[in-house]
Amino acid sequence: MARKKTQKKPEARIVRRKLPPLELRRLEDQVVLITGGNRGIGLAMARAVAKEGASVIITGRDEHTLHHAADQIKRDGGTVVSHVCDVRDEDSVDELFAAIHRHYSQIDVLVNNAGLAQRNAQVDHLSLEAWQACIETNLTGAFLCTRAALPMMSPGATVVNNVSVAANTAFPGMAAYSASKAGLLAFTNTLREELRPRGIRVISLVPGATDTEIWQQFWKDAPREKMMSAESVADAVVAALCLPANATIEELLIRPTAGTL
Ligand SMILES: NC(=O)c1ccc[n+]([C@@H]2O[C@H](COP(=O)([O-])OP(=O)(O)OC[C@H]3O[C@@H](n4cnc5c(N)ncnc54)[C@H](OP(=O)(O)O)[C@@H]3O)[C@@H](O)[C@H]2O)c1
Repeated sequence: MARKKTQKKPEARIVRRKLPPLELRRLEDQVVLITGGNRGIGLAMARAVAKEGASVIITGRDEHTLHHAADQIKRDGGTVVSHVCDVRDEDSVDELFAAIHRHYSQIDVLVNNAGLAQRNAQVDHLSLEAWQACIETNLTGAFLCTRAALPMMSPGATVVNNVSVAANTAFPGMAAYSASKAGLLAFTNTLREELRPRGIRVISLVPGATDTEIWQQFWKDAPREKMMSAESVADAVVAALCLPANATIEELLIRPTAGTL
């Protein structure tokens, strides 16, 4: 009788399966406070750092857009809380930081981003109100938030101040905005030297023309299609925040590649 052919079992092979690359969330567990985080560059930065694993606190004056922004970040899987705060108002800033204190023991990154421009007006037609709005928001606001945040910041923390190319370039009709941003740049440079011994990094973010609603305030027909996106600015900030602790970008100048603005 013919013997039944036994089929030889294939030798068990060890298959070395490549594991998917570990998804690095480079700002995991960091607490990042972004003023003016409800739209524009602030919101783009909030979404970008949340994607990297940060717990984000966003502020702004308008409650409706603030909630909308927070919902967007949550839908992307991010961790966010929002708080209404007018950076010009010391009491409002104190309330914000009292609320932060109740939930967090430290702030790893403060982004002083809240800002406004002015109606295009040469100095002889510039109202005191417009002048004060720029100085109080763009300069005093950054001072009040920085002073309140510093007790919660340790070595390795970072302050990012959103300056503007207007700090160094003269745009006729924009004296209040330019003066506020030049003041912010001087404030930032001084702060950096004060905080250097404490190991806290201070970055001047200096964006050129970026496609946001701020342009409605002074140049309604600006060619926004030629500008950078807020997301490009946000990507550059994330890259700067993710540098090894022993190095820092002190001035982050970012401009549209082909634009003249
Ligand atoms: N877009 C550009 O081309 C460009 C270039 C260089 C630098 N920047 C700077 O980037 C920053 C963000 O501007 P953006 O372009 O994103 O314009 P935006 O869309 O108009 O955003 C401005 C942000 O600041 C907030 N804000 C204004 N006044 C405030 C106040 N008193 N207290 C708290 N928050 C306040 C606004 O929220 P609420 O109105 O709800 O308060 C909003 O979130 C500004 O500092 C701006 O100077 C912009």
